[in-house]
Amino acid sequence: MAKKQTQVTWGGRFATGPAELMQRFSESVSFDHRLAAFDIAGSKAHAAMLAQVGLITKRERDAIHRGLAAILLEIEAGKFKWDAKLEDVHMNIEHALTKRVPAAAKLHTARSRNDQVATDMRLWFKHAGSVLVTKLRTAQRALLAVAAANREVLVPGYTHLQRAQPVYLAHHLFAWLEMLDRDCARFERVVQQANWCPLGSGAIAGTTLPIDREFTAKLLGFVDAKGRPQVTQNSMDTVADRDVFVEFAAACAMTGVHFSRIAEDLILWSSTEFKFVDLPDAFCTGSSLMPQKKNPDACELLRGKSARLQGNLTTLLTLTKGLPMTYNRDLQEDKPPIFDSYDQTVLCVEVFAGTVGGMAINTGACAAAVADPVLLATDLADYLVERGVPFREAHHVVGAVVQLAEKNSVQINHLPTEEVVKLHSAFGPDWLEVFDLQRAMSKRRGTGMPGPTQLRRQFSRWNQRLRERA
Ligand code: ARG
Repeated sequence: MAKKQTQVTWGGRFATGPAELMQRFSESVSFDHRLAAFDIAGSKAHAAMLAQVGLITKRERDAIHRGLAAILLEIEAGKFKWDAKLEDVHMNIEHALTKRVPAAAKLHTARSRNDQVATDMRLWFKHAGSVLVTKLRTAQRALLAVAAANREVLVPGYTHLQRAQPVYLAHHLFAWLEMLDRDCARFERVVQQANWCPLGSGAIAGTTLPIDREFTAKLLGFVDAKGRPQVTQNSMDTVADRDVFVEFAAACAMTGVHFSRIAEDLILWSSTEFKFVDLPDAFCTGSSLMPQKKNPDACELLRGKSARLQGNLTTLLTLTKGLPMTYNRDLQEDKPPIFDSYDQTVLCVEVFAGTVGGMAINTGACAAAVADPVLLATDLADYLVERGVPFREAHHVVGAVVQLAEKNSVQINHLPTEEVVKLHSAFGPDWLEVFDLQRAMSKRRGTGMPGPTQLRRQFSRWNQRLRERA
């Protein structure tokens, strides 16, 4: 008779079960229980494959399927009792199935938790990546709506946080759209990278049993654009590989950095010193002491969360850097940072969409800031260039014009023409036309520039790109 089992799955060679302290130390079900739906999908596909190749009967397969479906319902209803003694999501579900269905004892045929957890996570990454793309698109639409409602608004663009040149507000917002678009592309690549089925790799060296990896892969949707199954190509790499974890965390960290930079713009813009925007009350908080305060806390937290997202990326890189081939238990620590990055990035995207969706543009303050004629000093240098002056010389001459205006405490376009002509003979009576803002903007015609023609192009490009696909 077999000796009394100390533990459901691997207890056979052990005289005693793990210490209570060890159980608490090694359990992962407290966080990996959220893989349940993916784990069950993987098990169903695996059972279907086992029946297909004749390793279990169709009857056994159906019993396993029914049992797993019932367990999923229990989990979704919050009635399933997770047991830390059973370590992880995989053993909890298998144990529950065993209690319902005798055939459950055959489910783990030709499978290890190593290829099982790799499969669960790849399914999870495909899901998480597409959720984030969808949410980022929604945030982009909120930004596009602000741009569309403020098409005519001009603001100074800044370098070194000093006023540099005028741009349409929409051009600035479109810069943010570009950043978020690259983030979407990164998450789309994560989905692609995850799209290879690990099942069949076993613990490290596959199995001696005649399984059909392609069959399982197809059932789980690990297929290319033509519907052809995609299975991983090296059993050792498959159970050791955590690249897509790092890539996902990196995509989250990069998105976090983008939100942080955008949030910084919004924090500045909402300050009394700028007053370009009024952030929605719903995403601001007050001070417990100073009654007048309205603080941009949502934006500050967006800035702060980026640190956490970078931390998670660092955790994963550090976790994997010294590991020998192949699976090592260290790898169980890959999930908390990944789930945290996902949860926090989802929150960031939603809060960002809410914040920009509810903000009001203060057109008066924008117009006042952009009216500063010195923002067109570069245009004045271009004016000289058009009259044959080499740019370096033109730059120098306009510098002198700026200096003269500062010395006389007048705005650059209030200097008498006679004075300006003295600084360079190429100046003509038409030099003041340079300071017509609309004219200045319309001269910025090339692709990527902030002129009105390009703006129209960008509006249709973004409308097209962000059109809700039914
Ligand atoms: N809970 C484990 C993890 O997340 C599952 C794989 C366990 N494999 C093992 N050989 N102990 O990594």
